[in-house]
Amino acid sequence: MKIVGVSASARKNKSTRFLLEQCLDELKESAAAQGKGKGLEVEVIDLAALRFHGCLACDTCKKGVKCSQQDDFQELIPKLAAPEVAGIIVATPVYMGCMSSQAKAFLDRTVLFRRNGFMFKNKLGGVIAVGGSRNGGQELTIQAVHAAMMIHDMIIVGDGDHFGGTGWANHSDGHQGDTTGIATARNLGRRMAEVAALMRE
Ligand SMILES: Cc1cc2nc3c(=O)[nH]c(=O)nc-3n(C[C@H](O)[C@H](O)[C@H](O)COP(=O)(O)O)c2cc1C
Repeated sequence: MKIVGVSASARKNKSTRFLLEQCLDELKESAAAQGKGKGLEVEVIDLAALRFHGCLACDTCKKGVKCSQQDDFQELIPKLAAPEVAGIIVATPVYMGCMSSQAKAFLDRTVLFRRNGFMFKNKLGGVIAVGGSRNGGQELTIQAVHAAMMIHDMIIVGDGDHFGGTGWANHSDGHQGDTTGIATARNLGRRMAEVAALMRE
């Protein structure tokens, strides 16, 4: 069983990636504490390292699990199609009150999995949003990503309290000092581990 974390920031190794790693660390630690860590893998896909555009609506994917655009999204198709992928956590910065264009392009391109037998159906979905402001649109952003996950017929997991991870990059102590945001991301990881364990039973 694998949980894939997608960092959808334009920047490598900044606050979005940091909170995603916090979430995945907690996921692994919680699974181990429940005695369910064996066979649980996590993998990070960092979109900042990849070059791809949004969907062209060419409908090539209506004829099979394939995409006409020969760009870096091609390498994600086998990774995400793998049956051992049990869940996807999308971490995105808040850009103009919603998800990054990287996150939107990624989600739009995943339509090919929906068009080929709802391949994400019953996979777990969790979301982390990081803003430059404490209340800069994190919850709205999370809900927008949730909408795409619901369109895939995924099972949405929150942080056990609210919507998911909500980070504040410009905390006076830096994003590493955003203890509230870190707690929400780690709580999402804990909930993902709990629900993944239930799914395995
Ligand atoms: C184009 C753009 C738009 C942004 N819009 C918002 C916004 O609406 N609300 C907010 O809180 N922060 C906004 N920010 C700040 C980012 O969300 C913040 O810097 C975030 O930490 C970026 O993630 P990173 O550290 O992984 O790069 C914006 C940043 C950019 C580049």
